[in-house]
Amino acid sequence: MIRVAFYDTKAYDQPSFIQYGKENDVEFRFLETKLTEDTVELARGYDAVCVFVNDTVNAAVIDKLYEYGVKMVALRCAGYNNVDIRHAFKKVHVAHVPAYSPYAVAEHTMALLLTSIRRIHKAYNRTRDFNFSLNGLTGFDLHGKTVGVVGTGKIGRVFIDICKGFGMNVIAYDKFPAADSGITYVPLDELFEKSDVISFHCPLTEETKHMVNAAAIERMKKGVVILNTSRGALIDAEALLEGIKARKVGAACLDVYEEEADIFFEDRSGHIMDDDLLSRLITMPNVIVTSHQAFLTEEALNNIAETTVGNIVSCFKNDGICDNELCYRCGNVEHCRKNGRPHRCF
Ligand code: NAI
Repeated sequence: MIRVAFYDTKAYDQPSFIQYGKENDVEFRFLETKLTEDTVELARGYDAVCVFVNDTVNAAVIDKLYEYGVKMVALRCAGYNNVDIRHAFKKVHVAHVPAYSPYAVAEHTMALLLTSIRRIHKAYNRTRDFNFSLNGLTGFDLHGKTVGVVGTGKIGRVFIDICKGFGMNVIAYDKFPAADSGITYVPLDELFEKSDVISFHCPLTEETKHMVNAAAIERMKKGVVILNTSRGALIDAEALLEGIKARKVGAACLDVYEEEADIFFEDRSGHIMDDDLLSRLITMPNVIVTSHQAFLTEEALNNIAETTVGNIVSCFKNDGICDNELCYRCGNVEHCRKNGRPHRCF
């Protein structure tokens, strides 16, 4: 039996993880708390920890896991910006779920876009109050508009296909453009200048942090709609707020927020909101915030549990080779894979 401390548990996590765990001799201890330097002690005696997007797996936490004999960090998400991969080298194995449903995230992104530009959220509230006025609900057609997609990996490409279905002109930027994909790549500045709608689907790295800042917003078209279902820190939220106040940014749809860690996924109603910036953004009539919900479909939850349990089993049994293990040697998975190096560096 492989024993796993499962941090930051939500009710929707448990059924699929219990099912796949039972089928594979993996036992989970479900903990409500997030993994931090203060809570890592709870992992003592377990073979692995299972973590999500807002758990902290920094150098201090990794050193403690190593000291306690915990052998693996099983991320139940795609992004791994919260893990110090380099520090984990030769201490703990780290695996993630590279793809569980790119459709879930891409479809949510389009749902946000349509909700925003067709004012569905306002109409829903109005008709519940028997207010059938159309004043202030004028939207615009997506057909013929230009959408700029930043990051053309799994999610970005599904979103591109959805946009093409709406008759939009698609341009894209990717640090590693996909050859023969038929995608029209342009430099990032040109994408900012030409797009009516901009959607972010690249990972959070030192390079992409605050790629939407005051200078970038300055380049954008007046009335641009900004969509972020990737990671909050891609956007400098203060600069975004200024862009909205200046009437430069026409709308923003955010499923992620730089300082979301202690706020999102929790019921904070009835509490005083300490984050003034988030509060101010939420008061804007042209901002829609969802609480890191883009992944949340039944299909995705099942795939996440199946792949995470599969990663754990691969890591502990057979030859220990797990296809979804992150490479610690260079800290750069894509680089490693492109160079055909093995996925297990130690
Ligand atoms: P992916 O790895 O398939 O694609 C990422 C793309 O970004 C790749 O094509 C890569 O070349 C590109 N990229 C890397 N560095 C770049 C840079 N500096 N500038 C521009 N492009 C760059 O990843 P996938 O599955 O499409 O996911 C994208 C992101 O979506 C994840 O990193 C994660 O942060 C986020 N995500 C959000 C979820 C949510 O619930 N809101 C759920 C799942 C993922």
